[in-house]
Amino acid sequence: MATQTIVILDFGSQYTQLIARRIRELNVFSVVLPCTAPLSEIQALKPLGLILSGGPSSVYDADAPAADPKFLEMGVPVLGICYGLHYIVHHLGGKVKSAPRREYGHAEVTIEDSGTTLFKELPAMLQVWMSHGDEALELPSGFKRTAATSNALAGIVNEKRRIWAVQFHPEVHHTPLGPQILKNFVFLICRARCDWTPAHFIESTVEEIREKVGKDHVICGLSGGVDSSVAAVLVHRAIGSQLTCVFVNNGVLRKNEFVNVQKNLRDKLGLNIVAVDASERFLGQLAGVIDPETKRKRIGAEFIAVFDDEAKRIAKETGGVDWLVQGTLYPDVIESSSVKGPSQTIKSHHNVGGLPLGMKLKLIEPLRDLFKDEVRRIGRDLAMPEEILGRQPFPGPGLAVRILGEVTRERVALLQEADEIVVGEIKAAGLYSSIWQSFAVLLPVMSVGVMGDQRTYAYTAAVRAVHSEDGMTADWTPLPYEVLKRISSRIVNEVRGINRVVYDITSKPPGTIEWE
Ligand code: XMP
Repeated sequence: MATQTIVILDFGSQYTQLIARRIRELNVFSVVLPCTAPLSEIQALKPLGLILSGGPSSVYDADAPAADPKFLEMGVPVLGICYGLHYIVHHLGGKVKSAPRREYGHAEVTIEDSGTTLFKELPAMLQVWMSHGDEALELPSGFKRTAATSNALAGIVNEKRRIWAVQFHPEVHHTPLGPQILKNFVFLICRARCDWTPAHFIESTVEEIREKVGKDHVICGLSGGVDSSVAAVLVHRAIGSQLTCVFVNNGVLRKNEFVNVQKNLRDKLGLNIVAVDASERFLGQLAGVIDPETKRKRIGAEFIAVFDDEAKRIAKETGGVDWLVQGTLYPDVIESSSVKGPSQTIKSHHNVGGLPLGMKLKLIEPLRDLFKDEVRRIGRDLAMPEEILGRQPFPGPGLAVRILGEVTRERVALLQEADEIVVGEIKAAGLYSSIWQSFAVLLPVMSVGVMGDQRTYAYTAAVRAVHSEDGMTADWTPLPYEVLKRISSRIVNEVRGINRVVYDITSKPPGTIEWE
């Protein structure tokens, strides 16, 4: 049975992805399309319902998104949110009053029509996150007001046409009962079933991959991170030994990472992994390099070269490789297609990955419909170890961007030891999963210390721990003093070559998470 879908039309709101996530948390599939998507594309998905997101424009702006209002005539239930409400009012013959500037904030909404299906099970008074921008002045015929704040309209409905809209944002966490509103829309109005589950996703994806690939051979670059590992395990479940994974030791992995990833994915899950220890090649490329961008470029180029060699070798052995697995996630897919609102941020980093140079490979992207937390849920259903699924993000250029100055084998070894202590102590304190990233940085700053009766002159380690939602912004984490104390004392005592530990208390912006 085809998965039922709620389509979200993106008018440029910073919360559009959040709406999709909220719907999926209800185990109902949702996709985001740009509001300019042709009607035929929306119809092809046979949506059970449409949600119009908010957006930064005014319906009167010259550059207001040019969406075709015909989707309001499709006969499927519609929920307009914020700009979505203005859009509905404006295009169905009502009047919207343009406001000179937008205001955001907490507000109290009184539900005036408790009989409206959208507000079932809700109290008469709601705390909401309101965006006062334009305001609906006159409603289109057949519409009635369902909710209001003390000075503005907050909800409208036309039950006959099956169109509902709210001025506030039910998808954000500042609207505590927002999930109930979305639930009412999805289940009571759209009559959706809960069929978007990990088990369903795995089953349909595995079937799809099998059909697509047939008897062909597939390769996959593993980084040890969540995305590439879950992608590989899914493809492995579909085609078993027709998949070869390539895992490259670039010389700047964490301590024991090269061995641990192989243990977890090959020994425990049975993946066919070609592990290539190319650390000499990478460290050779990094010799004498100090500039951070040059480090990144050299590592990226070397990775492609190593991967390319392996892919060609595997192609020879297997009689040809046709497909490459990539761990692309849904936020990247949306980002490349959605309406760019002024608040949208630009991604600054991409995974160091590699498309083999001369080979014409077709792509398999089994995670391209998923958000990060869904990838973890799928991984759990695939019985993957928590050690992989719960891993904090780790940059493609690895420890090289955490060793300031030249990267040498000796410095990598020092940082690996210090890093293991930082992560180990944070895990022991039960803090690892609540922190976005925590790690050590090696500074090429030598300072004087004293150990026993000996004078020391050695490197400095900086400890970094940040909270973040998506890596785009971050706050430094106030680690408990006890944890900092243990980290500091263990590094200085156990890592010969580091005699000073400092704590990085810079947020992003203006800092970045990594030091280079
Ligand atoms: P910054 O340092 O820019 O990092 O605040 C934001 C997030 O991206 C990760 N990062 C990278 N990931 N390749 C990657 O795959 C890279 O070159 C790279 N640089 C930074 C970083 O760890 C953080 O999570």
